[in-house]
Amino acid sequence: MRSLILVSNRLPIKLNSNGSLERTTGGLASALEGAGLDDNYTWVGWGGSSPSKGTKTDEFLEQMRKLGVEPVLLSDEEVNGYYEGYSNSTLWPLLHYMTERARFQPEWIRYYRQVNEKFADTILNIAAPGATIWIHDYHLMLLPKILRQRRPDLKIGFFLHTPFPSSEVFRALPERDELLKGMLGCDLIGFHTYNYLRHFISSLIRILGQEADVDGLQYRNRRIQLGVHPIGHNHHGFKKAAKSDIFQQTYKTHREQLEDDKLILSVERLDYTKGVPQKLDAIRHFLETHPEQANKVYFVLIAVPSRRGVEEYDNLTEEVQCAVSSINGTFGEVGHAPVQFLHRSFALEELAALYALADVCMVTPTVDGMNLVAKEFIDCKRDSHRARPGALILSEFAGAAQEMSHALLVNPHDTVGVANTIQIALDMEQEEMEARVQAMQKRLDLNHAGAWAKRYLTDLENASQELPCSN
Ligand code: UDP
Ligand code: G6P
Repeated sequence: MRSLILVSNRLPIKLNSNGSLERTTGGLASALEGAGLDDNYTWVGWGGSSPSKGTKTDEFLEQMRKLGVEPVLLSDEEVNGYYEGYSNSTLWPLLHYMTERARFQPEWIRYYRQVNEKFADTILNIAAPGATIWIHDYHLMLLPKILRQRRPDLKIGFFLHTPFPSSEVFRALPERDELLKGMLGCDLIGFHTYNYLRHFISSLIRILGQEADVDGLQYRNRRIQLGVHPIGHNHHGFKKAAKSDIFQQTYKTHREQLEDDKLILSVERLDYTKGVPQKLDAIRHFLETHPEQANKVYFVLIAVPSRRGVEEYDNLTEEVQCAVSSINGTFGEVGHAPVQFLHRSFALEELAALYALADVCMVTPTVDGMNLVAKEFIDCKRDSHRARPGALILSEFAGAAQEMSHALLVNPHDTVGVANTIQIALDMEQEEMEARVQAMQKRLDLNHAGAWAKRYLTDLENASQELPCSN
């Protein structure tokens, strides 16, 4: 068995500017944490803020290494140019089809290149001969090529956690050739859905003139495999969470508070791809057209702060806070505000309890690579979680919709349609809810995070054996 190095911009823990450590929120971190990989791997990534001025770098490194991770240290300029700039103000909106939000600043790509090189240095310091390197996400698209050039003995895989957009969108990037060639340093490139893979293949032909089919391509003197590997949720983590004291306590407290009222839950990072303003429009419309429901439902919006310091995210927080106050101001009663906006992160055990309790979960992104919240909600609707029956409202623009056809699928831009679907979900008979949930559970049980990681790593292991070089 080769030794394994996981690489992602984010580590599963991050250092706050006050020196405290916090669990990372996001699908990448939660799926990899739940992947059940043997302890025999190292996770390389950025640990959040730079070590505080009072902390010596060596002490910080030691502290992180004790936790089993190998941190890459970034300067404030690198965080600004590589993370907030190129990764999150150029690539993230573009990969999510939001070209009008994408900003292009020539100096950002220089930091992106520099940090990808820095990741390579850290990896190459620890990579055993022939090691497997599994690189994750859009922050590190140049890394496969850098590693391939410096260490051809490595087995290199890349998995993209976001959509890969149509080539018409991707070609707007000034550095489109460089990024595609960067990814082609791999033995295996994986995507969540067949559509993303298809878009990647058309970018290869339109931008690089490189032919490929759905299984792979011949590139220079190598064969590169392509694949569809829809990510799964942390099933074992949620199963364990349901047995915890925190779960029991959270469940009991909220169960008593709710009495006969209905809980309509949503959980996301506060990101403009998640469609939160559109969801609030639909909630407003629902309350306008069903005034009798206003004091019988609780819309609980868990919106975890994300990417603070990136202008688009700061603006979104204000926009959402205003919309929530306006709805509560209009439809609230003394002692009852229909929308509760919780702008902080929750522990897995608390989330599990809220999923188990919720009558409806609204997952309505305008674009989303996969969306694990939808899968986690369905997974927690089990007798072992003392779950109440529940219905899932799911955007057809989330990658998860391709595996979850038994959800109530909606177009998040269709305010009236989403508002009507809330009522349909509330009216749904228990028997129908259970039948839909069970159908989805049957499918998800085959592809939880552990199965996803195993399948990806097996494909990576076999990549060049199955598809040998032609010369
Ligand atoms: N999550 C969490 N705490 C919270 C809210 C969310 O740990 O307070 C987790 C949630 O369980 C899920 C992940 O954050 O696993 C969000 O992943 P998703 O794929 O839905 O979206 P992403 O944030 O990756 O875009
Ligand atoms: C998405 C991305 C991840 C990222 C996460 C949280 O899931 O695909 O790569 O880690 O969002 O965002 P952040 O910028 O806080 O790492």
